[in-house]
Amino acid sequence: MTTPDTTKDTTAVILAAGLGTRMKSAKAKVLHEIAGRPMVSHLMATLADCKVTSVIGVIGQGMEDVAATMAPHPTVLQTDRLGTAHAVLAARDHLSGLSGDLLVLYGDTPLIPSATIQAMLDARRSTDNPGVVVLGFRPDVPGHYGRLICDNAGHLERIVEAKEASPEELNVTLCNSGVMAIDAAMALGWLDQIDNNNAKGEYYLTDLVALARRDGRSAAVVEGAVDDLIGVNSRVELAEAEAVLQSRLRVSAMEAGVTLQDPISVYFSFDTKLAPDVVIEPHVVFGPGVVVEAGSRIRAFSHLENCRVGKGVTAGPYARLRPGADIGDGAHIGNFVEVKKATVEAGAKVNHLSYIGDARVGAGANIGAGTITCNYDGYFKSLTDIGAGAFIGSNTSLVAPVKIGDGAIVGAGSVITRDVEKDAVAVARGNQVSTRNAASIMRKRKEALKAKQNKS
Ligand code: UD1
Ligand code: CA
Repeated sequence: MTTPDTTKDTTAVILAAGLGTRMKSAKAKVLHEIAGRPMVSHLMATLADCKVTSVIGVIGQGMEDVAATMAPHPTVLQTDRLGTAHAVLAARDHLSGLSGDLLVLYGDTPLIPSATIQAMLDARRSTDNPGVVVLGFRPDVPGHYGRLICDNAGHLERIVEAKEASPEELNVTLCNSGVMAIDAAMALGWLDQIDNNNAKGEYYLTDLVALARRDGRSAAVVEGAVDDLIGVNSRVELAEAEAVLQSRLRVSAMEAGVTLQDPISVYFSFDTKLAPDVVIEPHVVFGPGVVVEAGSRIRAFSHLENCRVGKGVTAGPYARLRPGADIGDGAHIGNFVEVKKATVEAGAKVNHLSYIGDARVGAGANIGAGTITCNYDGYFKSLTDIGAGAFIGSNTSLVAPVKIGDGAIVGAGSVITRDVEKDAVAVARGNQVSTRNAASIMRKRKEALKAKQNKS
C-alpha cells in the first residue's frame, strides 16, 4: 500500500460541542483524562502521528477551556446543537476551497489508533476514489448506532440511523462509528444539501453517503476494532476506555523489552518511557512525564511522576518520586523515601524513610534512615546541597539553605543549620548525660512512694 502525502491535504474536524450531561461534571466531557491526558488531546496526538496538521475543533458555549486545550488549533462555536452535519458546518469558514480529505472525528471517541486513520485516508485515495470512507465496527450490541447498509457487492449505499431503521436494517451488525473521511473538495456542497427531515429533526452527517452515491461516487467502509472505538458518555465508559488504553500501554511496554511482573496492577501515563530491561514490580503507578532508563528496577507500590530514573537504579518498595526527581545511574532509593525536585547523583543511597526535597545528593553519598531536608519555612523553599561521598547519619534534619561538603560525616540525630565543610565531622544534638547507678536509686524511690499510696 502506498502512503500518500497527507501533510498538506488533510483537514480534520473534531466534534466536541456535546454537553456530556451523563458525565455529571463541571468539566467539558472531552477534557476528562485517559492515562493522564484529556480525550481531545489523544485525538490531536493521533492526528499529529498521521501528519494531519490542519485541525479544527467544534465546541459549545462556555467551552473556552476546550479551546485552550486545542490551541494553537482553531475552534469554532456551534451555538445550537442541530446534529452532526450542522456541527461540521459550524466550521464552514475553514472548509471552503479545500482539496484532499476532510476527516470528521468525535471528541468523545479518543482511542482510534493512527493506523486506522491512515487506513481510511489510504482508502479515500484508492483508485476507486470514493467520495466518503466510513469507519465501521461491529459492537456487541448494535443498539442505537447507525447501520451501514451495503449492496450485494459489499459497497456502502447509505447509513440509516437506528430510529429510522426497518427491522431488517436493525439486524445489520456493521455500525457507524461516526468517523469519516470525505472528499474535501465536495464536502461543503454535500453538507449544504443535508436537511433535517428525519425522526430526530437533526442534520445527519450520515446522509453524506447517499448524497455522494447520488453524485455517482462510491462510498467505502474501513472496519475498526470495537475496543478502539469506545465512545465515552459516562464515568463508567470513561473507566472502560481507561482500561483499554492501560492494557495497550502495558502490552507495548512489554513488547519494547520491559518486564511487568503483574501487568494489570501497573498504571501508566500516556507518555511513560521505559527502556529495555527495566523491571516493574506489582502495583506501581506512573503519573505523567516519567523516564526510566535501562536495567532499573521499580519495586512494588511505588509512585512516580515527572521524574527521571537513570540506568541500573533500584527504587522502592514504596518509593515516591515526585516532580523534578532525577535519580542518577546506580543510585538506590529505598522504602518510604520521597524525593522532590532533587538530583540524587550516581551511586548515592537513600535507603529508608527519608524526605529529600529541593536538594542535590552528590555521587556516592549515603543518607541515613529518617533523614529529612527541611526545605520550607512556611514562606520560602531553600536548597540543601550534599557533597559527593558525604555520610549523613540517621535521623538528621538538614535545615535549608545548607551545604554539606564532599566526604563530610554528620552524626546521627543532628539538626544541621550551618554549612559543614568538606571532610569535616559535624554533630549537632544535645549532649548525652549518664549518671552512674542512678537507675536503681530512682526505682527504689518510686517503689517506696507507690507502697505508701496503696496503704492509704
Ligand atoms: C452518531 C451517528 C451514528 C453513529 C454514532 C456513533 C449521526 C446522525 N449519527 O449518532 O450513525 O452510529 O454517532 O457514536 O451522525 N455533536 C455536536 N453537535 C451536534 C450534534 C453532535 O458537536 O449538534 C457531537 C457530539 O458532541 C458527539 C458527536 O457529535 O461527540 C456525535 O453526536 P451524537 O448526538 O452522540 O450522535 P449519535 O446520535 O450518537
Ligand atoms: Ca453518541
